[in-house]
Amino acid sequence: MKVDYGLDAPGVVRGFAIAGALLAVATVVLIVAGLPIAPELFGLGAVMFLATVAAMIHSSRRGKLLERDRLLDGLGLSGDEDVLDVGCGRGLLLIGAAKRLPHGRAVGVDLWSPADQSGNRREATLANAEAEGVGERVEVVDGDMRALPFADASFDAVVSSIAIHNLDDADDRERACLEIARVLRPGGRFLSLDFEKPAHPGWRRAYFAYLGVVGATVGTLLHGDPDTYRYIPASLARYPGAAAVADRLRAAGFASARVIPKMAGFMALHVAEK
Ligand SMILES: C[S@@+](CC[C@H](N)C(=O)[O-])C[C@H]1O[C@@H](n2cnc3c(N)ncnc32)[C@H](O)[C@@H]1O
Repeated sequence: MKVDYGLDAPGVVRGFAIAGALLAVATVVLIVAGLPIAPELFGLGAVMFLATVAAMIHSSRRGKLLERDRLLDGLGLSGDEDVLDVGCGRGLLLIGAAKRLPHGRAVGVDLWSPADQSGNRREATLANAEAEGVGERVEVVDGDMRALPFADASFDAVVSSIAIHNLDDADDRERACLEIARVLRPGGRFLSLDFEKPAHPGWRRAYFAYLGVVGATVGTLLHGDPDTYRYIPASLARYPGAAAVADRLRAAGFASARVIPKMAGFMALHVAEK
């Protein structure tokens, strides 16, 4: 069986692809019919949507795989550790970690939200682990990062990829940070790759304006409601950003927590030590 780590935010990718295709068709029709409506605007919209779709597919299918290997290098595993992947989805980090743990154990925990990843099910994760030849080293547990179903100090390392930002309520984030600190052994490491808001105020405004315009257009075209996708920029706006999450990690008991910007500041890696 072929390994498939799924597509992140599949509904958004589908919506953007349909909107891009509709705008591209409208551009051609306007040019051919010679109507007095600026085809450039429609063409620009089509390019924006289709470029976003291409970037999202690239990130899920290739970018995240490259970043996974860099992230796991940062754990400095010797091969006999217990590693937990929080919000493991279809097992990208979980299985990458298991490959580096010939004498250890890789455990994934998730509540399997289908909106966050295509085909998000524990069976898909276990099938990927089998296909990668690490089925016997991988364990998958149903659970919520705000109440991890593990004993204190049961892991040498905890990893996470594009999962913590899903908690856009400050109390929920605090609970997750406390839980991650609780299940780590003293000296253990937590590495988390996630979205970040651009630090520069100009870039940040442009980013949110872009998300707002794109979301409203897709919502109108597909659902007749410009507010359908408003939750995306709203949720990112509520997310306090990587520096605030690092503060929260220190408050939760980590001796150190630092942030490494990734992808021109649109993503960030947290490196925290207990
Ligand atoms: C975008 S997916 C990323 C999955 C995987 N880490 C990857 O990089 O391919 C986010 C994952 O976080 C999970 N998730 C969201 N909220 C969660 C929570 N409170 N507890 C556990 N998992 C959660 C979702 O179900 C989903 O599998």
